[in-house]
Amino acid sequence: MADPSGDRGTRLLVLGAGPAQLGLLAVARARGLFVIAVDRDPSAPGFAYADRRAIVSTEDERGIDRLARAERVDGLIAPGIDFPVAIAARVAASLGLPHPLSPEAAVLVTNKQRQRERFAEKGVPQPSSQVLDSGGEAVELPCVVKAPDRQGQRGLALVREQAELGPAIEAARAASRSGHVLVEELVEGPEVTVNAFSVDGDFFPLTVTDRLTAEPPAFGVALAHVWPSVYETAAEVAKQAADALEVRDGPTYTQVRIGSGGPRVIELAARLGGGHDAELCEAALGVDLNGLALAVALGQPAEGPRSHARVGGACVRFLIAREGTLEAVHGLDDAEAVEGVLWARAYRRPGHVFGPLRIGSDRAGALLAVGSTRDEALARAADAASRVRFDVVDAGVAV
Ligand SMILES: Nc1ncnc2c1ncn2[C@@H]1O[C@H](COP(=O)(O)OP(=O)(O)OP(=O)(O)O)[C@@H](O)[C@H]1O
Ligand SMILES: [Mg+2]
Repeated sequence: MADPSGDRGTRLLVLGAGPAQLGLLAVARARGLFVIAVDRDPSAPGFAYADRRAIVSTEDERGIDRLARAERVDGLIAPGIDFPVAIAARVAASLGLPHPLSPEAAVLVTNKQRQRERFAEKGVPQPSSQVLDSGGEAVELPCVVKAPDRQGQRGLALVREQAELGPAIEAARAASRSGHVLVEELVEGPEVTVNAFSVDGDFFPLTVTDRLTAEPPAFGVALAHVWPSVYETAAEVAKQAADALEVRDGPTYTQVRIGSGGPRVIELAARLGGGHDAELCEAALGVDLNGLALAVALGQPAEGPRSHARVGGACVRFLIAREGTLEAVHGLDDAEAVEGVLWARAYRRPGHVFGPLRIGSDRAGALLAVGSTRDEALARAADAASRVRFDVVDAGVAV
C-alpha cells in the first residue's frame, strides 16, 4: 500500500502495547512510521497499530536490546509505564541512538527512593519518608507504604491502623524488585497530575488535571482525570522536580498532592501518562503531546508547545467491571454517541477474568469527554459510562 507520508523507513520501537500505549501507537501509525511493538501479552490491543509485533516482556532488557539491534530501529519509547523508561534509555545509549533521557536520569525517574533523596538535596517539596531495612523500625501513622521500584499501585497501601502495617510492609517487600520498602507520610488533600513537555531544559506545563482516586483497598487508583484544575500552580513544583532529576527533554508526568502546607510532589515520571493524558491534552489544549514524544524519541527537533484552550473542560473517566469472567462488552458505540465524547474503549477481551478493583490494571476501560465547562465534561462522561455494560459471568450465571 502506498505510504502517504513516505516515512515508513523510520523505525520506532514501542515498549508496551496495552491500553496505556494505545494513543501513542495510533499516532505513530497515522504518521506513517514503521512501528515495532513489544508486549508479553499476545492479545495486547495496541498490536493492531504495529507493523511488527514482538511477544517480549517490556522488562526484558536483553531481549529488547537484541530486538532493537536486529530491527535497526531509529528510536525507542516507553509511554505510560515506568520501568521500561530506563530500559529504553539504556538501550538507546548502547546503540548510539538519540534519546531524550540519559541512562542516569532514567534511573532516578524510575525509582521512588532515589527521587526522594534527590528531591531532599534540591529542596523540592515532598512527603517525608524513610526506607525500612528490618521492618522493626518505628513508623508514624497514618502512612503510605510502597515498593520504591514499582508502579501501577503494586505493593502500595495506605496504613491508618497499627494492625495494617505488618501486612502492608510484607506486600510492599514482595512487590519490590530491590527488597526495599518505602514508608511515606500521608499527604492529605486534593491531588493533581501535571503533564508537561521539556525542550532543552525549558519546562512547558500543559494540562494540570485533578486526579480523582478510589478509596482503600484500591488506594491511589485513578478513577478520573479532570481538566481544568484550580491547582494550576502545582506546575511550579513539577518544574522543580524535573530540574532536580535533570529531565531536560521530553514529556513528564508529575503527581502532586496539595497538602495543608502547599503542593508536594508524590513522584515524577519522565514519560507520557498512562491514563490517556496525551489524548486529554490534545482535546483540551490542541497540543499533540503524543507527536511531540514521538519526535524526541526519534531525535527530531521539538519546539516548545504553544497551547490554547479548545474547550472549557475535559475528562478521562475510567470504567470498572464487576468481578468475574468477561463475556461481552456492550454500549461503547452508544457511549461515543453522547455529545462531546471522543471515544470509549474496553481494555479487555471476552474471557478476561476481572478480580476486585485493587490496582490500576484492574480497570476495565476508559472514555474521553469534553464540554464547554468542566462540569459539562464530567456529566457527559457519566452519561456515557452509564451506557457501557460489561457482561460478566460468575459461577456460571450471567448478570
Ligand atoms: N505519600 C503519599 N501521600 C498521599 N497519597 C499518596 C502518597 N503516595 C501515594 N499516594 C497516592 O497513591 C497514588 C499512587 O502513588 P505512587 O505514584 O507512589 O504509586 P504508583 O504505584 O507509582 O502508582 P501510579 O502508577 O498510579 O503512579 C498517588 O497518586 C496518590 O493518590
Ligand atoms: Mg506513580
